[in-house]
Order: sequence, then structure tokens, then C-alpha cells
Amino acid sequence: MGLQITPSLLNADFAHLADEAARIPSADWLHMDVMDNHFVPNLTLGLPVIESLSRSAAQPIDAHLMIADPDRWAPAYAEAGAGSITFHVEAAAAPVRLAREIRAQGARASMALKPATPIDPYVDLLPELDMVLVMTVEPGFGGQKFLDLCLPKIRRTRELIAASGADVWLQVDGGVSLETIERCAEAGADVFVAGSAVFGADDPSAMVEALRTSAFA
Ligand code: DX5
Ligand code: ZN
Repeated sequence: MGLQITPSLLNADFAHLADEAARIPSADWLHMDVMDNHFVPNLTLGLPVIESLSRSAAQPIDAHLMIADPDRWAPAYAEAGAGSITFHVEAAAAPVRLAREIRAQGARASMALKPATPIDPYVDLLPELDMVLVMTVEPGFGGQKFLDLCLPKIRRTRELIAASGADVWLQVDGGVSLETIERCAEAGADVFVAGSAVFGADDPSAMVEALRTSAFA
């Protein structure tokens, strides 16, 4: 799989999510940020919205669960139609079992790390995963500044994935824009979430293409 762009709809118009998705036909995935006001200090959307959108949108859904107790809830997002489910390892009680349950539902299993969470303690999990998400802002809000201090962890994660021999995608999320995407790609990321950069642009579809071109540069 080459480089992929997965726009976050956090900054889109929530009253017209399907129309917003239709504005970005070249997006590989729709990144949906699920927040529960416990794991992060913000509240967004949940299962019913994912279920409806996965029926009506052309792109598959990349669900980013910023929730407490993903062990209980994450497999239901696969049942609701999301193609990729990302849980935070800081919140998961049994990440191996959880990844297996997500895969058993036919979805891709992904593990996210907050900026201060290292990858090394989780290296043995890589064969259980389809993607690792390295957050490049503190999760909770769109429009924050990209944290350069996360670049070494992107590099380290890419090294560990290569050493494991597993086919694991490496996603970055937070402050990704035309200014920062090249740094992420150079460090080894291959799946790029962009929220405010895409939905703050006059032409979101053109911005998706511009981001893709910059990542390839
Ligand atoms: C933040 C979310 C991100 C956010 C990205 O907690 O996980 O997906 O929407 O927004 P930008 O690209 O504006 O940082
Ligand atoms: Zn996200």
C-alpha cells in the first residue's frame, strides 16, 4: 500500500457529514474521532453516527477511539461498519485480546500512542496489529500545533515495524499540514490524518491531493 491520506471530519460540518465526505472523493479513508469526555476532555460522536456514515459514504471509515474502556466498545465499531479501528494502548486493559477481537470482526486493528507514550514496551504487539498511530498532538482537539518532539518516535516505530517483518501501517495524527507532512513521511509515516488543513481549505479535495503530493516529495 502506498501513502494514504485520511482526512479527519472533526472540523467538518457535523450536520452534513455525508456531504462533507463527498467533498473529498480522493480521500483513502474517513478519519472519525470518537471522544467520550473521559479519556480526553471532549465529546464528539459514537456508534450510531459511525453506523450511518459507513452506510452512506463512499470511503471506508478509520475510527479513532479516544475512549476509556476500548476493550468493551471497540469491537462494536467494527460491527457498525468501520474498516479500521484504532484504540489507545493507554486505555486498553488487554490489547492483544482486543486486537484479535477487532480482526475477528473483519476490521483492521490499530493501536494509538499519545505523545508521551513510548513504542518500545509494545514491540511484541506488532504482529497483532495492522497499524500503529503515533499522535503528534495531545488527543482531544483539532487545530493544534504539530509536536516535532514526536518525530524520533515515528522513526523508531518504523524501525521496529521493519525489524518485526509484520505488514503494519504507520499513521500520524495531529497538526499534519503542507508544512509538516514531509517531515512525517521522511520519518517513516505512510498514513496521514489531516483535519483542519483539509476542512479549513477553500477546496478540501485539492488539499487532499496537495498533501499526497507533498508526502511523496
Ligand atoms: C485530535 C484528533 C485528530 C484531529 C486532527 O485528538 O485525533 O484526528 O482531528 O486535527 P488537526 O489535523 O487539525 O490537528
Ligand atoms: Zn484522530
